[in-house]
Amino acid sequence: MFTSVLPKPSSPNTPLDLFAAINELKRELNAVILAHYYQEPDIQDVADYIGDSLGLSRQAASTNAEVIVFAGVHFMAETAKILNPDKLVLLPDLNAGCSLADTCPPAQFAAFKAQHPDHIVVSYINCSAEIKAMSDIICTSSNAVKLIEQIPQDQPIIFAPDKNLGRYVMQQTGRDLVLWQGSCMVHETFSEKKLVQLKMAHPGADIIAHPECEEPVLHHANFIGSTTALLSYVKDSDLTQFIVVTEPGIIHQMEKQVPGKAFIPAPSTGNCACNECPHMRLNTLEKLYWAMQTRQPEITMPEEIRVAALKPIEAMLLMSA
Ligand code: 13P
Ligand code: SF4
Repeated sequence: MFTSVLPKPSSPNTPLDLFAAINELKRELNAVILAHYYQEPDIQDVADYIGDSLGLSRQAASTNAEVIVFAGVHFMAETAKILNPDKLVLLPDLNAGCSLADTCPPAQFAAFKAQHPDHIVVSYINCSAEIKAMSDIICTSSNAVKLIEQIPQDQPIIFAPDKNLGRYVMQQTGRDLVLWQGSCMVHETFSEKKLVQLKMAHPGADIIAHPECEEPVLHHANFIGSTTALLSYVKDSDLTQFIVVTEPGIIHQMEKQVPGKAFIPAPSTGNCACNECPHMRLNTLEKLYWAMQTRQPEITMPEEIRVAALKPIEAMLLMSA
């Protein structure tokens, strides 16, 4: 579909150089490319910054670029737009959503919130702008425990939308949270049985997992953390083998930054590539080029939602500074 608009090679013998074309557009537009670790290797390689949700939010909050090209999923690009109302924020494929964010429809969440009038709302960043607008504090997987610990003990809290991260935070902090029962289709797909079999085949490997995984899987983990924390762990560890229980896109960065160590992707329950996030994978290098070339698809939202959603994001950035 996109081949007709790709830059023409300068001669029939010259291979198409999408990397060069994207870098040229980057200069022309004064653009920055922010990418999540779950993006395909080519996108990671052309990005100016690769990070977890917190790192990407911080980059979006501080960039001087006029255009933000967000290679991630919709809620991530939306967060960048909330922080930068005057900038053009592009998402290569507007259908790159998030199954976890989709488990929390605004109308149902408003009703849930109304049932707990004395609670404050801490929402995981994997939610829509509408849910953020109903929240008091946003958190990510890398700062959720730290933020909850800063809230007075006698303050009741709703935690949304991820029940798995919520349960993990409850265990880490000893706090009783009212959990919205959302989850991520990718992180719920890992098979505990296959994980144990993999560990038996690689007894010297540490199991490292994202907190969006279910409890029986997390139970086997030597380390639990955000994508950036998982990357730091494999860099700092003396071990040379790791079983990685999150979306396998991050393995590209692990192999680049920590050469010589082995990273084994944890298998899904079925015989499928269900451990790959189908939403993240909608973005491709061709679509990224096309988005920059045409300046669309652009992220937009009603201004009253943006203003309301900004407050809890700013609270997060302040509390996790
Ligand atoms: P991180 O913030 O840890 O990168 O997680 C984002 C995400 O969507 C995990 O599924
Ligand atoms: Fe959403 Fe799960 Fe994909 Fe992360 S891995 S973006 S939580 S669907």
